[in-house]
Order: sequence, then C-alpha cells, then structure tokens
Amino acid sequence: MKLHAWRRQLLALALLMGAGTVQAADPVQGGQLYTQHCAVCHGPNGISVFPGAPNFARKERVFQPDAVLLNSVKYGKNAMPGFTGLLRDQQILDIISYIRTIR
Ligand code: HEC
Repeated sequence: MKLHAWRRQLLALALLMGAGTVQAADPVQGGQLYTQHCAVCHGPNGISVFPGAPNFARKERVFQPDAVLLNSVKYGKNAMPGFTGLLRDQQILDIISYIRTIR
C-alpha cells in the first residue's frame, strides 16, 4: 500500500521534470516556418510540386515517428537538402506538428 503511493509520487515527479525539458511542438509557428522553408517543394497546401517529394495533403510519410522525420529534415534525404544550421530541432518539430495537421 505505502510503497504504491510512493511510486505514484515518483512517477508524478518524473512527469513534471519531463514537462520542464520537453517543449510542446507549436504547429502555428511550424506553419510559418513551413511556408518559408518547405513550401517551395512540398507545396503551400502540402500538395507537392517537386518530383519525388511526399504529398502531405495525402498524408504521405507522415505516419513515421517524429524522430525519423526529424532526422530526415536535419540531414536531408536524397533530393531533399538537410536543414541543420538553418533550423533548430525544436523548429523542425514545430514544422512536423504542422505537417501532421495538413489535410
Ligand atoms: C528541394 C526540395 C525540398 C525542400 C526545400 C524540402 N523538401 Fe522535404 N522532401 C523532398 C523530397 C524530394 C523528399 C523525398 C526524399 C526521399 O525519400 O527520396 C522529401 C521528403 C521529406 C519528408 C519525408 C522524410 C522521410 O523520412 O520519409 C519530410 C518529413 C520532409 N521532406 C519535410 C520537409 C520539411 C519540413 C522541409 C522544410 C524544412 C522540407 N521537407 C523541404 C524535397 C524537399
């Protein structure tokens, strides 16, 4: 009994600490960055205009985890350039959260 209560408190504390370090992604901010950096190939409404670029309006590639997409955007993938040095991880995560809202 007592041990269970103690463990719950520990879990709550761990969650609180996590909330302090992990910032929630901001799709509004991400939308602005998307227009600036990504729309030229992926299209202003997610309907891609560049050959081979996934169409986010059709949900192409968006079912992969954040970590996978973050990695592709940071370091590039085939014809897509990497954005390391141009965008911070948090900004890329904002964009990814925006991409997930496109329909
Ligand atoms: C020069 C055109 C171009 C620009 C600019 C561009 N992309 Fe791409 N993007 C591509 C192409 C082409 C692919 C397909 C790569 C492949 O899988 O061969 C791609 C793939 C992706 C994928 C899927 C990656 C995966 O692992 O499947 C994501 C997510 C993505 N782009 C996001 C972005 C974001 C976010 C930006 C802006 C910061 C951006 N792209 C800018 C051309 C572009």
